[in-house]
Amino acid sequence: MEEIKKLAVIGNPIEHSLSPRIHSLFAKELGLKVSYEAIQIKQENFEDDLESLFDRGYFGLNVTLPLKELAFSFADKLSEESELCGSVNTLWKEDSLTCADSTDGRGLVKDLKNKNINLENQEIVILGAGGSAKAIIPSLLKAKPKRITIANRTISKAKLISEQFSSGNDQIEPIPMSHSLGFRPDLVINTTSAGVLNQGLELPTNLFFDDTHTYDLSYSIEDTPFLKLAKNLGAKLRYDGLGMLIEQAALSFEIWTKQKPQTNLNKVDIL
Ligand code: ATR
Repeated sequence: MEEIKKLAVIGNPIEHSLSPRIHSLFAKELGLKVSYEAIQIKQENFEDDLESLFDRGYFGLNVTLPLKELAFSFADKLSEESELCGSVNTLWKEDSLTCADSTDGRGLVKDLKNKNINLENQEIVILGAGGSAKAIIPSLLKAKPKRITIANRTISKAKLISEQFSSGNDQIEPIPMSHSLGFRPDLVINTTSAGVLNQGLELPTNLFFDDTHTYDLSYSIEDTPFLKLAKNLGAKLRYDGLGMLIEQAALSFEIWTKQKPQTNLNKVDIL
């Protein structure tokens, strides 16, 4: 008899994670025997709890905040992308080795492609210079944009990231948030945690034009705080990060099951 594949997402907090619902929909569509739970793990118990999950037969784990960097340090075998990002969101066992990948960046790029948003030779502005920004930069660079500008409240962090990722012809420019943008961006991506923290967000002036695609990595049933702000500042083409969440989940699911799920899920089935 086919064994049930035990999967889970680990994080803290974790009770509001949409991953169990998304992965259940993938498994149902493909007719696979999969269980997918949300498990809270504290940073201080990370290594012991993770070992214990694998000992108890969990095959694959998604990792979310605040454990992505810890999981990076824990893994035995890192994908090239996770090595670049310095964090991982997908773990699995292969011949007793813990393998790791970061699917967030590829998930974002897939979702942008689904939305017919071109990246090649485009001006991209990333708002924020934390872990979420770092997770998407390698995939965005692979798509050969003209330039990536990183605007951050703490300019030193934007400078560090730009030094870390700039190589060859890749252009990454750090700017403070309180800056007037001197060019017309094609795509603005919000990676800051201002909305989740219920805080105001100062933005560079002259950021949104009629044809600027505006993407928030956060998602909610209604407009996210950032998308509301962007709308008030004139952004017309606005998207939340639900599509990226589904695409990064699909990439993890494919790593674990070797099967590609459909990703055109309905928002109402998930949120
Ligand atoms: P994550 O892993 O979600 O990226 P993080 O690493 O803590 O979280 O990074 C959060 C990002 O959101 C940072 O770029 C932070 O700016 P600072 O580097 O200046 O701290 C940004 N951020 C959070 N709240 C913000 C706010 N109210 N205004 C502007 N930027 C904010």
